[in-house]
Amino acid sequence: MDPQIKKTVLRQFTYGLYVVTARSGAEAGLMTANWIAQASFEPPLLTLAAEAGSHTRGLIEASGSFAINVLGAEQRELAGQLGRTFAKHPAKTEAAAWRPGPETGSPLLESALGWVECRVVNSLTAGDHVVYLAEVVEAGAQREGRPLTLAEAGFRYAG
Ligand SMILES: Cc1cc2nc3c(=O)[nH]c(=O)nc-3n(C[C@H](O)[C@H](O)[C@H](O)COP(=O)(O)O)c2cc1C
Repeated sequence: MDPQIKKTVLRQFTYGLYVVTARSGAEAGLMTANWIAQASFEPPLLTLAAEAGSHTRGLIEASGSFAINVLGAEQRELAGQLGRTFAKHPAKTEAAAWRPGPETGSPLLESALGWVECRVVNSLTAGDHVVYLAEVVEAGAQREGRPLTLAEAGFRYAG
């Protein structure tokens, strides 16, 4: 396989850009993510691929749950801020106003277009990431707007 062709084609896949959040006790994690997809209508299941070493993933493991916040097209800057690592930028969890979700307590961004709360039902190691299969247990639509995409934000996370 030609690694350059592999990278070129994998980067042709299109993605939305979201903020995945989790909370365990007083500790909260917020991270930008695009490796998210629906996997079932009934029950409503999603998949998320999370970096093995991420702070937010540690909180997903501790709480067994997470939320996915849908960003608006004008929120590119926030996506950039939350795409940095907690290890280097611990203050990033204060980058956006949030409240605890009603079902899981996961942070819900006040400025998101909408959100879903998810409970993990299964997970497997996938190389340098862990793939979570999670059931949607609550959802909220907050405002009208065009969702932010990875391409429109001009960021890369694939290849
Ligand atoms: C555009 C973009 C997309 C990203 N997509 C993912 C993703 O799908 N999954 C993931 O685990 N991290 C993704 N990241 C990295 C995370 O946002 C974050 O930097 C990293 O996971 C560390 O998370 P932490 O701050 O919770 O430790 C992405 C970063 C950027 C800038």
